[in-house]
Amino acid sequence: MNAKARTAVVTGAAGGIGRATVDLLLADGVSVLAVDRDVSALAGSPARVVEADLAAADAPARIAEAARALGPLDLLVNCAGVGGSRRLAETDDALLDHIVGINLRAVLRLTRDLLGQIRAPGGAIVNLASVYGEVGRIGTTAYAASKGAITQVTRQLAAELGPQGIRVNAVAPGCILTGMTREKIEGDREYAATMVGGTPLKRIGAPTEVAEVIRFLGSDAASFVTGQIVAVDGGWLTSRGTF
Ligand SMILES: NC(=O)c1ccc[n+]([C@@H]2O[C@H](COP(=O)([O-])OP(=O)(O)OC[C@H]3O[C@@H](n4cnc5c(N)ncnc54)[C@H](O)[C@@H]3O)[C@@H](O)[C@H]2O)c1
Repeated sequence: MNAKARTAVVTGAAGGIGRATVDLLLADGVSVLAVDRDVSALAGSPARVVEADLAAADAPARIAEAARALGPLDLLVNCAGVGGSRRLAETDDALLDHIVGINLRAVLRLTRDLLGQIRAPGGAIVNLASVYGEVGRIGTTAYAASKGAITQVTRQLAAELGPQGIRVNAVAPGCILTGMTREKIEGDREYAATMVGGTPLKRIGAPTEVAEVIRFLGSDAASFVTGQIVAVDGGWLTSRGTF
């Protein structure tokens, strides 16, 4: 990472993609504030850690306070997210609020409350969208809607914040082996075969492969890239339905 990127806040930092991102940034010498609702998996990490449920009313203020110790923020990675979606008919209000509350509302609230601390010009935001924000698929209605919204939030904020010199991009992972997907991938052979079969590279992705793209988008190597949704999916989106 460019020497200018010295500080970062990463949410969902104890999860698969978040932790891989934290570790890459730390290896680059970045001071990282790692946020998760359960930080036990971050024990021993040199990152500064804040345990916070991003859906809680006081979470953005607590994170902003902790981030002040880092100085101006070069990078915000909005990685925390939840799956567990169903068809719309099976999606009750509690599940809807849970998914949209964390995957969309919490991203908007935290980003808004950290805006004054993001370096301008020069700062960057990377959001976690999904291939399911791009195409339709049975059984992921609320999740896909929340991720499609993140895609649009990314474009919207790129327009809003570009004049201040803040870049905003997203990655759209395909099927990546993490805590969110492990049970489905390992327990549902048909699902795993479908995902691998429908992916031109014929395999599932690793968290580090997503983290590498986050790292690039967050660095000055991507200094003229903003408003982009970069699929990290082994080609799944471009050839969906091809087996
Ligand atoms: N794994 C995939 O195949 C895949 C595909 C597309 C998009 N994504 C997105 O990537 C991001 C990371 O997912 P992952 O696969 O690493 O999953 P993960 O479950 O391993 O990690 C998600 C992390 O977010 C944290 N989190 C969830 N709700 C929170 C809350 N309210 N407050 C604070 N922390 C909270 C969890 O504790 C967890 O550590 C998510 O936004 C997910 O939607 C993942």
